[in-house]
Amino acid sequence: AEFSAFSNTLKRCRNEKKKYSVFNQRTEEASATQYFQFYGCISQQQNMMQDFVRTATYHRAILQNHVDFRDKVVLDVGCGTGILSFFAVQAGARRVYAVEASSVAQYAEILVKNNHLSDKIIVLPGIIEEISLPEAVDVIISEPMGYMLFNERMLESYLHSKKWLKANGKMFPTFSDIHLAPFSDDQLYMEHYSRANFWYQQCFYGVNLSSLRAAAVDEYFRQPIVDTFDIRILMARSVKYTVNFMDAKEADLHRVEIPFVFQMTQSGLVHGLAFWFDVAFVGSLVTVWLSTAPTEPLTHWYQVRCLLQTPLFAKEGETLSGRVLFVANKRQSYDIQIVALVNQTGFRSGNILDLKNPFFR
Ligand SMILES: C[S@@+](CC[C@H](N)C(=O)[O-])C[C@H]1O[C@@H](n2cnc3c(N)ncnc32)[C@H](O)[C@@H]1O
Repeated sequence: AEFSAFSNTLKRCRNEKKKYSVFNQRTEEASATQYFQFYGCISQQQNMMQDFVRTATYHRAILQNHVDFRDKVVLDVGCGTGILSFFAVQAGARRVYAVEASSVAQYAEILVKNNHLSDKIIVLPGIIEEISLPEAVDVIISEPMGYMLFNERMLESYLHSKKWLKANGKMFPTFSDIHLAPFSDDQLYMEHYSRANFWYQQCFYGVNLSSLRAAAVDEYFRQPIVDTFDIRILMARSVKYTVNFMDAKEADLHRVEIPFVFQMTQSGLVHGLAFWFDVAFVGSLVTVWLSTAPTEPLTHWYQVRCLLQTPLFAKEGETLSGRVLFVANKRQSYDIQIVALVNQTGFRSGNILDLKNPFFR
């Protein structure tokens, strides 16, 4: 372990691998710098740790499946403060490699020392795509989910880390379901237009702003909205799309196409699609679910809604079909394309959104 830490430090000093690592090839430098600065803040780590649903569910998933951890070697991908590594040790892990790319790695090291676990938890500062481990591992644990599941593109780092997993090793979480459903929300739609209407003014301190109003509408509608809502706004049962972390490869997440056919259970204006996700920890003893559904207690992921610029009228019993396409970009996020069609009337609408720039409502 010491040799591994030394060799990783040496690599970082020499900047070896860096230019060519999978992570660097798919990420703009400015994005990575900002991203790891964000996670370097104790306050951001605290924010996640204080999400009770999230942290308590991870704790339960790991401890209730203690047989998967007892005397096992574990890899914690993006360990942050190391909280999941501590859970793995509580469940009986023999050794945990805790990899963290942001400067919070130094705080993880302090916590490990202060909790007298330096013989069990080895903090390895660095990017998982660039780091070497001294041995293969039995279990990989991580919390790589972003808004709308895919934001941050950390799922790819999680999948990348499987190169260190023994055959028949376990992944915690094991798979994820992303759900989507059409919603009707007049107020939200009007709010968006009202924000853009600032630019409608013809005499703002004597300046006519109205030539930028269309650009403002476009920009606001490109923002996915992060908030929560009453489930009665949903107009059909959700459609789900599964990403199985045991089988999936990094490249599978470069372009994710989700076709949908919704059977409308309500008549009215469809203003857009609502998204949420669940992850499952499939252990040898129990399967534990962490859900961000609007029917469940709220988490720091909330839910995410994507508006259509032109709402679609649909009646109960009709079908709304189309697809959502997520295309990965070098800003550790996705461009989202939505196309939707009411089959019975031929009404069509769509939108293109920028997941990197959500609106926190
Ligand atoms: C969502 S936080 C989870 C932190 C901690 N595991 C927890 O549950 O509280 C994700 C962490 O992964 C780190 N991270 C993201 N991508 C990484 C990569 N490619 N290599 C190493 N660490 C990474 C981030 O810096 C961040 O601290």
